[in-house]
Amino acid sequence: MSTPRLTPETIAAINQQIDLVEIVAEHVVLRKSGANFRGACPFHQGSNATALSVNPSKQIYHCFSCGASGNGFQFLMKIGDRSFQEVAIDLARKHHIPLQTLEPEQNQELERQLTQRQQLYEVVGLAASFFHHALFATQGKAALSYLLEQRHLTLETIKRFQLGYAPAGWDTLYGYLVNQKRYGASLVEAAGLIVPRKSGGGYYDRFRDRLIIPIMDLQGKPIAFGGRALGDEQPKYLNSPETPLFHKGTVLFGLHLAREAIAKRDRAIVVEGYFDAIALHQAGFPEAIATMGVALQGEQVRQLLRYTESKRLILNFDGDQAGKNAAERAIAGFADLIYSGTVQLRVLTLPQGKDAAEFLQHHAQADYGKLADTAPLFLDWQINLALTGKNLDQADQFHQASEAIAQLLAKLPDHTLRSHYIHQAAQLLAQGSSHLALRLEQDLRRQLHHQIRRDRWPSRPPTSPTTALQLAETQLLQIYLHFSYYRQQIYELIEQQGISFSFEHHRQLWQMILDLLDQGSTSLEPSHPDQLVPQLQLACVEITDLALQLHHLLWLDENAKIALLRPALVIRAAIARIQLIMAEKRYHHWRNLWQATDLKHDSQLGYFYQSQIQAEKQQIFALQQQLEVNFIDLAREPDDQQDLAETDLSPALADSI
Ligand code: UTP
Ligand code: MN
Repeated sequence: MSTPRLTPETIAAINQQIDLVEIVAEHVVLRKSGANFRGACPFHQGSNATALSVNPSKQIYHCFSCGASGNGFQFLMKIGDRSFQEVAIDLARKHHIPLQTLEPEQNQELERQLTQRQQLYEVVGLAASFFHHALFATQGKAALSYLLEQRHLTLETIKRFQLGYAPAGWDTLYGYLVNQKRYGASLVEAAGLIVPRKSGGGYYDRFRDRLIIPIMDLQGKPIAFGGRALGDEQPKYLNSPETPLFHKGTVLFGLHLAREAIAKRDRAIVVEGYFDAIALHQAGFPEAIATMGVALQGEQVRQLLRYTESKRLILNFDGDQAGKNAAERAIAGFADLIYSGTVQLRVLTLPQGKDAAEFLQHHAQADYGKLADTAPLFLDWQINLALTGKNLDQADQFHQASEAIAQLLAKLPDHTLRSHYIHQAAQLLAQGSSHLALRLEQDLRRQLHHQIRRDRWPSRPPTSPTTALQLAETQLLQIYLHFSYYRQQIYELIEQQGISFSFEHHRQLWQMILDLLDQGSTSLEPSHPDQLVPQLQLACVEITDLALQLHHLLWLDENAKIALLRPALVIRAAIARIQLIMAEKRYHHWRNLWQATDLKHDSQLGYFYQSQIQAEKQQIFALQQQLEVNFIDLAREPDDQQDLAETDLSPALADSI
């Protein structure tokens, strides 16, 4: 079932109970300053100890340095990386506010889910301390010496990561949690800790005689475990199954310990293995996190990018072929962000195919640091990969290499960047012959020019009319909200052309904007810093449904930013798209009327309808043509259209920074 929504009364009751100063003070040292409180802002790195201002009477905070602002809900959502629902539910429990959901019958279900979650946290937490204690008991002796002697981990690291040992019996943990602590076996099973026997009833422990690596959520609470065999038993790692607390695709191992360092150092080191991350932390690279051997999912990347301001990721996978494949697989979900330059991805390959943990066994920390600092950018790495093992003096291999490189470079949307790489690739392929390099460069340019046209057009226009309409409305609103330079233009287009939004939540948002304009709380002039979006974010927080629907409008993600890189063109296309759909609707309306007309008796009316139909048809045709022209513009190279590129980009970038 879907998550039940809290009633506005519940949200209001929570709002009344909470105190922003108290909430912020749990995370930041606050000092009184006049009517307000001040402290260091937790949302950006910087030395200003008074950048954050908390207003107790208005219950809002604002950072003068990074512009972060909001109320208590938003502070908690941002700092804990949690959803509105999660924050609200937590606060309600803390303040003993009864939870009412929108549909009364969902109340019980919500309570049940909450209690189950709560209990799952308890059980997994207890198991984690059980394992951790066992590591230091007699039975854990071998495991402990493995960690100390073979992995060279310090006691401090072992404690920091709460490493543990699962004893060898079949029901040690079962005995502890079920018999001793009296938790229901089905709950312990739901936590992924015990497994029902195939026959004869009863359960047995999932983790037996294994080293235990607890996996924590962002708050540092254990939610799952990885268990490593102490010898060569298979599987090498046994992990918790998916549970209500643990979804492998959304968790990154070690992020709770790494996020501060990621923000401070403005980069994240992404490794595959648990022990790679642990060894890196111990060696002074606390910005490391592990993917636990699976491809990075969009959600995980989003989490990581939230902490590094320049979006710098270093992918340090195993140096062998498997590691190379893993690196390519890992980025499949966010390749666009890399090619567009939004994410600065570097690929660190360690010598002799070692992984980070092995490397650090034999090398100094500084060696790793140097390699990490100088790791090649993803594209350079790929170009190199296309060239390795190729004998460029052989025609066929030369052809293969240059073909692979051309395909790679065709993915680069940025003209300047592409130009840079074309030059570089030509140099590499020419192996020192400057004459050949020049020719290759020209060839590559020509080849890419054709390929880009082929790839981008005509696959770009959205196909389904509802998605196309939704996209058009979304983009129009996104530009209005985040690119203040275009507000006047959009406002005039919408009001003059009688554009109305088809989607209810878009209409509501536009109405909110009009209201704010009326009150003089926002204007059509470009302004810095802009208050419109924070105001709307605040206004939406209390309307849960709307907040969810408008989230992608009020908080732009990276993909959206890229899609909006040429606002003037996007606006034109969006308006034409909306008009087209309106015209189509009118066309069908007239046609229905015409078909229902008895032409023998009502020929006048029939003619009238027909002329309307004709007029709409023409308009539809004109709009379709306009849209096509627009998409050609969008697909066109920036160098063919300096006029647009210049006027478009600068104001857009001004806002998005
Ligand atoms: P590796 O096989 O590279 O493990 O898998 P590793 O971390 O280098 O192992 P050590 O150093 O020999 O102990 C990388 C990651 O893939 C996941 C684990 O998260 C592991 O850390 N994995 C691997 C599994 O989940 N199950 C497996 O059987 C193997
Ligand atoms: Mn490994």
